[in-house]
Amino acid sequence: MKTLIQNGRIVTAVDDYRADILVEEETVSLIGSKLDMAADTVIDATGKLVIPGGIDPHTHMELPFGGTSSSDDFRTGTVAAAHGGTTTIIDFAVQYHGESLIQAIDHWHQKAEGKPAIDYSFHLIATDLPEARLAEMKRLIHDEGIVSFKLFMAYPGVFLVDDGTIFKAMTRAGEHGGLICMHAENGVVIDVMVKQALAEGRTAPKYHALTRPTKAEAEGTGRAIAIAEMAGTPVYIVHLSCYDALQKVRQARDLGLPAYAETCPQYLFLDQSYYEQPGFEGAKYVMTPPLRDKANQDELWKGLRMDDLQVISTDHCPFCFKEQKELGKDDFSRIPNGGPGVEHRMSLIYNGGVATGRIDLNRFVELTSTAAARIFGLFPRKGTIAVGSDADLVVFDPDREQVISAKTHHMRVDYSAYEGWKVKGVPETVLSRGRVVIANGNYIGKPGDGRFVKRKPM
Ligand code: URP
Ligand code: ZN
Ligand code: ZN
Repeated sequence: MKTLIQNGRIVTAVDDYRADILVEEETVSLIGSKLDMAADTVIDATGKLVIPGGIDPHTHMELPFGGTSSSDDFRTGTVAAAHGGTTTIIDFAVQYHGESLIQAIDHWHQKAEGKPAIDYSFHLIATDLPEARLAEMKRLIHDEGIVSFKLFMAYPGVFLVDDGTIFKAMTRAGEHGGLICMHAENGVVIDVMVKQALAEGRTAPKYHALTRPTKAEAEGTGRAIAIAEMAGTPVYIVHLSCYDALQKVRQARDLGLPAYAETCPQYLFLDQSYYEQPGFEGAKYVMTPPLRDKANQDELWKGLRMDDLQVISTDHCPFCFKEQKELGKDDFSRIPNGGPGVEHRMSLIYNGGVATGRIDLNRFVELTSTAAARIFGLFPRKGTIAVGSDADLVVFDPDREQVISAKTHHMRVDYSAYEGWKVKGVPETVLSRGRVVIANGNYIGKPGDGRFVKRKPM
């Protein structure tokens, strides 16, 4: 099976040139000028960018949360991702108390089985780490291809683990080339604030944001970095939302510490005024960390330009407004946390980053694909366009506009956080390991095309 992509402008994290790409079976086999060999499929990319498929290293498909589950499963969520030019997701498996790490991963393998439209991997959220469980990390890293773990400083009684456990887990992961991803918010202080607010009758969605101040995130971020320094390991801060937390990462990196962080489109484009929308509408934006004051956005863009932030993920964790978000109608703490995003990350960042001149095209590719591939053990198989790399490719039309709407999106959720936004930059054709899954904006793949990818330790 051969596919020839002709006349495109190939952009990677470091290159920008015009050439043709020959794909044979699942990988790129040749890149050159004016290739004219016979192929089963020929794609004309004149006037288009050809970029590495997006890698979204932070999604939650079918995540049980607050008495319900995120509304996309591994089929609907990955079809939506493919529409948006993302060809690999790293989702979060959850270890529940009493469960072994291996059981938790097996459980997530079963959830995904036969469904994904694109390639996928898992991080493991660890919640219960006595010595026997810590010992399992070695097997996960070296045999199962699970090289990253998420720990929570938030959600006491559900996900939170104490600092001693964080230190032990970082040490153990580090010994084997694994990486700890940290949900860095002081959940203990936040819990007190939440209880106070509710006791005073402040139950509306906006109090979700008002009880999770930026200082709580900055404290968690600084503490995570300090514990990692004591353990002698790197740390990756997930869904960083604000300047206060960014400063902690920046200071650490200026000192030469291996601190990494991601932010997400919602923190770059939406702000806390969205919680003031009439009625219960603000619940659509209840996510953790919450949306912040608009002044943070320029700081986050600066962080992305200066490499204090390396990755843009989505933290895609959709809950329908009807029936799911409504669980918290009388109590903001019962609104399931999270929002949809996996489908529009590439277009939003192109439109709001490249088209506005905030970042250049190479940085766009790095932030949406290459850096995640490097940090999470997928590079150079994924995250670039090179001979021998997986043919995860996006023919991206930089001039076409789309209007984002829940009426037309492919995520299984009844609202869009960007309803009515007109954005420039549309993934037109998407190849996942050599197979065209999106052709001129239409999904032509089938469930189960995607494959689990074992990742390499650092
Ligand atoms: O609100 C969010 N972010 N929900 C998903 C869980 C998490 O903490 O990433
Ligand atoms: Zn989190
Ligand atoms: Zn998340």
